[in-house]
Parts: sequence; structure tokens; C-alpha cells
Amino acid sequence: MASSPLWGAEEDVLGPVNLHEFEEVAKKKLHKLAYDFIAGGVEDERSLRANFEAYGHWDLVPRVMVDVSKVDTSTKLFGIQMDQPIIIAPTGGKELVMPKADEVVAKAALKMKTVLCSATGARKLIEDGEPLHWWVNGIGQATRQLATDFARRSEDSGAKAIVLTVDNAYQSNRDRNNRNRFDYGMMQGGVPKEGETRKLVNPALAANWQPHTPSLSWDYIDWVRGVSQLPVILKGILAPEDAETAVKRGAAGIVVSNHGGRQLDGVIGTLDALPDVVDAVGGKIPVLMDGGLRRGTDVLKALSLGAKGVLIGRPPLWGLSAYGQAGVERVLWMLGAELKLAMALAGQPSLATINRRLVRKHA
Ligand SMILES: Cc1cc2nc3c(=O)[nH]c(=O)nc-3n(C[C@H](O)[C@H](O)[C@H](O)COP(=O)(O)O)c2cc1C
Repeated sequence: MASSPLWGAEEDVLGPVNLHEFEEVAKKKLHKLAYDFIAGGVEDERSLRANFEAYGHWDLVPRVMVDVSKVDTSTKLFGIQMDQPIIIAPTGGKELVMPKADEVVAKAALKMKTVLCSATGARKLIEDGEPLHWWVNGIGQATRQLATDFARRSEDSGAKAIVLTVDNAYQSNRDRNNRNRFDYGMMQGGVPKEGETRKLVNPALAANWQPHTPSLSWDYIDWVRGVSQLPVILKGILAPEDAETAVKRGAAGIVVSNHGGRQLDGVIGTLDALPDVVDAVGGKIPVLMDGGLRRGTDVLKALSLGAKGVLIGRPPLWGLSAYGQAGVERVLWMLGAELKLAMALAGQPSLATINRRLVRKHA
């Protein structure tokens, strides 16, 4: 097993022993406004809780007497060889944690040889020429011209895929942010200072009805594919019907996601949504998923239900808040190490052996 990025450091003795505990350290270090922005979900946070609860709906049924003296977590996704099937999800607003936060996370991704989803030109965030694998994230553009410009620019700047967020038609109604009088324009204000309050310019209350990409349609995939070789991965699919359409319309992949419980409240937990989406896709394109993954066993359950890989959103931000770049690396390392051990104890020497028979849903 790879050694920990913080091996030998004081944090190794005193620091978090699991991903949950990174959040506790981060919470102590962050301004309330920043903590709430990252931790929070939408409205009553039912979707947020549904993600976590879904892992409790499925039990592992491990196999024994399998030679697991070697366990291989590596995989290849969209042509990219990875040591573990764990990707950094796109997260805006990192500047609330520290200056140049996107750069720090990109360096961690490079060091840990994982794929980074980023809204920013990630190659520019590190030394030019560094072999960082990154996928560009966006919520789409309103016109064909803007979309094709975006695709060309992304391809030129070295992105390996476009991750199109499809669940973000409008700014959602997030009570924690509203209570803190947090306005999205304030994200540019950098790290909030102790005692600082920010003047509310443009509250995100439901009544404000702030459009992001309300006219986004399936044509977007055609637009992009007309001018670029980049695979288009749709992030934010929950319905099997949409998964079928995604395949028909030429999407290269799907991320089963509810935006970490941050867009529509009361939606299905992502692990519970996964099997129907996987069935609808029928192996034609890779299905990934995100939402609430905090343990290696969570990842193993997602893989068992057909995910080819997973994305994590908040945990890298908790790692970043707690210990900077080393914290992000530590989070990725820890989840990968837990996955490897979980696979060993479940009798699964490689990702290829994992299948749906490894889990059962509660009656
Ligand atoms: C602070 C924050 C910002 C986010 N920003 C984006 C974004 O810009 N685009 C996007 O598609 N998803 C965004 N997400 C959602 C994540 O990509 C991901 O779907 C979600 O965080 C996964 O759940 P998890 O945090 O439980 O791992 C954001 C999530 C957080 C926590």
C-alpha cells in the first residue's frame, strides 16, 4: 500500500483517521460562511442526507477463500490510466478556503495521479507541461456559438473531457447561505476574515429566480461534438430515461449525481439511483457517480452497482481547509487505501471481479 502523504508528520498521530474527521478539523479552521457554503445542501437538506443514507440501504455480501494477497484498484477511464477510480469533483468557491486554492488542489491531483474536474483552465494552474489529467467543468452556454468556442478553447488548453453539469438550470435555494446573507458574488471576496460579514447584494432566495442555464438542451452535445473530439460527460443524471437519451444523443459518459444535495431538495440518494441508470445504459458508456462517498466501502458499493468510478466533492475541500495540499492528498490516499482494504476483505482482487452480486438491498 502506498505510504501516506503525511507519513511521519504530527498529523499522522493526532490527525483525522477517516474522511469524516477532516470535516471536523476544517470546521474549526474555516469562517462559518465558508464552512456553511461547502457543507450545506439545499432547503431542508433531504437530498444531502439521502446521499449518506443510501449507503446504509445496501449491504456488502463478501466472498472468501479468494487470493487477495495482491489487490489492484487501477482502472482506465476515457483513455486515462488511474491508480484508483477516484476523481476530484468540480467545486466552485474554493477561494473561500485559501488564496490560489484551485492551484493547490491541482497540484495535489497531479501528485496523486488522479483526474481533476475543474471549471478553471487547470493546466494553467500548474507548471505548463505537467502531465495533469483534467476534465473541464461547465454548466453549458446558451448559444451554439458560445458552446463551440468553449469546446475549442477547452480542447486547446489540454482538457481531456467536458463535464457538463446538467442539474444547474437555476441557482438553488440554500438556507444556510441565505441565513448567512451569503451572496454568490461574494465568492470573489477571498477568504472571509474573522468577524467579517458580507453585504448581501443579491440573495439566492427562491423568489429571486436566478437563471444559470435554463435553456440547456440535448442539442448541446451535438454542438460540441461538431467541433471537438472531447468526450462529453453529463453530470447530474438521476432518471434512467435521461440516461437512455444521453446514450442516444452521443454522451460519452454519465455521472449519477444530485450535485451533493445542493440543487433540488427531496431527490433520490445517488447510490439508490445508480442501478436503474446502469441498467438503462446497458454498458454502452461508462457510468460514474458521486454524492456522500466517505468510506472505501461506500466506493466498493458504488462499483458493485455498476459505477466505473466515483467523484468526491467536499472531502478534498475539507482536506484543503485542514492541511492545504497535503490534506487533499491525504484524503485521496485514505479513501483509496480504504477501498483497497475493503476489496481485499470482500474477496475482490481487482475492479474487474466486482459486480452486483456483492451487494444486497435491504428488504
Ligand atoms: C462547495 C461546492 C461547490 C460545488 N461546485 C460545483 C460546480 O461548480 N459544478 C458542479 O457540477 N458541481 C459542483 N458541486 C457538486 C460536486 O461536484 C459534487 O457533485 C458533490 O460535491 C458530490 O457530493 P459530495 O460533496 O458528498 O462528495 C459543488 C459542491 C460543493 C460542495
